[in-house]
Amino acid sequence: MGLLIKSTVSKAKFIVFEGIDGSGKTTLSKMLQEHFEKNIGPTHWTCEPTHNNIGKIIRSVLTHDMVMGEQAIAALYLADRLDHIHHDDYGMKHKIEQGIHVISDRYYMSSYAYHVPHVSLEWVINANSICADALKPDIIFYIDIDVETSMNRLASSRESQDLFETEERITLVHQNYWNAIKRIRASENVEIIDGRAPLDEVFQTILSKL
Ligand code: TYD
Repeated sequence: MGLLIKSTVSKAKFIVFEGIDGSGKTTLSKMLQEHFEKNIGPTHWTCEPTHNNIGKIIRSVLTHDMVMGEQAIAALYLADRLDHIHHDDYGMKHKIEQGIHVISDRYYMSSYAYHVPHVSLEWVINANSICADALKPDIIFYIDIDVETSMNRLASSRESQDLFETEERITLVHQNYWNAIKRIRASENVEIIDGRAPLDEVFQTILSKL
């Protein structure tokens, strides 16, 4: 008589945080990593642009040390992301396959928000479908704040603003995020979180969604 042993091993999760600059996504994603590490299991925190080779080129564009056209920048973010997914050492896919949860501060939805209209939303979604096919988030937390809150938070937290942090730019990116959410909601698990509440409250809301 055979014995049926049912496997209950569950797959490691891939959780993404998105939002305009100043939304608090970096702090919140790090809080969640700590929470996971303590209560759930090994968890890797990461971000895009990465601090790897292609990410370093992007960061030198952001600090104006290198000048590049917007379309080339969009392609660099895609290359950085593919490396971030597939690299043998730091690749997110590899970590998830090893049972390590991964929390990323930004992923392809950032490209949908930051590169339009320099490239069309259709182009950027199509180009990034290679990433979505390889590694789709289990959940995307979009931390929503208004443009005024973003500007106020940035003014009090940073001395120099990077290439994208002007009011006009943040307004466009905020609108692009909402357009992207409407466009991808049927195929992606996006949770919209009000990021204007006190940090602990926002964090509790995030936990309640998991
Ligand atoms: P940011 O989250 O501000 O990184 P850090 O806090 O480490 O400086 O991201 C840097 C900028 O990169 C930000 O303005 C958004 C932009 N960005 C894109 O334009 N496209 C993308 O695909 C990603 C991931 C980020």
